[in-house]
Amino acid sequence: MVRLGASSVILACRNVEKGEAVAKDIQATTSCSSDSLQVWHLDLSSYASVQAFSDRVKTELPRVDALLANAGILTWKFRVTEDNEESITTNVISMSLLAFLLYPKLRETADKYNTQTHFTVTGSELYEYAKFKERKAPAGQLFVTLNDETKANMSDRYNVSKLLAIFVVKQMAALCPVSSGGVIVNCVAPGFCQSELHFRELDNRAVRFMVKLLSRRTEVGARTLVHGASAGAESHGQYVPDCKITPTAGFTKGNGGAELQDRVWMELKQKLEATRPGVTSLS
Ligand SMILES: NC(=O)c1ccc[n+]([C@@H]2O[C@H](COP(=O)([O-])OP(=O)(O)OC[C@H]3O[C@@H](n4cnc5c(N)ncnc54)[C@H](OP(=O)(O)O)[C@@H]3O)[C@@H](O)[C@H]2O)c1
Repeated sequence: MVRLGASSVILACRNVEKGEAVAKDIQATTSCSSDSLQVWHLDLSSYASVQAFSDRVKTELPRVDALLANAGILTWKFRVTEDNEESITTNVISMSLLAFLLYPKLRETADKYNTQTHFTVTGSELYEYAKFKERKAPAGQLFVTLNDETKANMSDRYNVSKLLAIFVVKQMAALCPVSSGGVIVNCVAPGFCQSELHFRELDNRAVRFMVKLLSRRTEVGARTLVHGASAGAESHGQYVPDCKITPTAGFTKGNGGAELQDRVWMELKQKLEATRPGVTSLS
């Protein structure tokens, strides 16, 4: 984004020191002005942090053209942050909270500057492999079931979180048409990349070799994120892996998919409203 001439890019990081080092690297490699890059604190494992970040965006930034929700975790360990298992809090609930808190700013920017703005989520191709046995839970019990450590299938959890992210994007897009809000909401997938994601819990030479052999550089994967955050209105509510709008599969398909999306939305809405009352009322 910086290379393409964005006048202002905010790196939203839980570790500001790490973010500052990345900002320096971007400046060195793109020769962008130091004013165009800032590092702000955002920890998706804390709803208070998501709200503080969003409040800061609303008060300090005159406009927001693209919000790219890229941060995510892949873990096999069951840990709780806020009221959920950590991957659900980070990859789904906080991502959604951020989206709903900042949607009004994106809409305001679109309206004021007569443009279209973007909310883009980084999904994953692995959503298709989700087994999501928790979907068999009784009505209103999806998240409660996902939070039951004794039944958790952590090898499926990342895939489930990315499936839920697709439901969130579809739901938000249905609630907020581009024709009325001017905000394009979509979900990208960058392909298998050589990031830190795969090594955080399992790091050895064999894993590194396999990842290097089969994956692409993050710079290449990142192009799909930039594409999503600048794609046209035809991408609204769509899944866009490798820069191509692609019909979603697996549990998102047909009437069953629509019903599951409704169930996810009913429960998610309750959680978001409990955190910030009124946040899901976008009209
Ligand atoms: N790598 C792949 O093959 C692949 C494929 C498909 C989709 N994706 C998706 O791409 C996105 C980026 O992942 P990556 O591959 O670049 O992995 P990564 O190298 O592990 O980067 C993940 C980023 O998310 C940040 N993050 C994690 N938890 C956070 C939290 N609670 N608050 C704020 N930031 C947090 C991390 O911050 P720290 O640096 O402080 O830990 C890190 O910057 C993720 O959504 C991932 O699911 C990756």
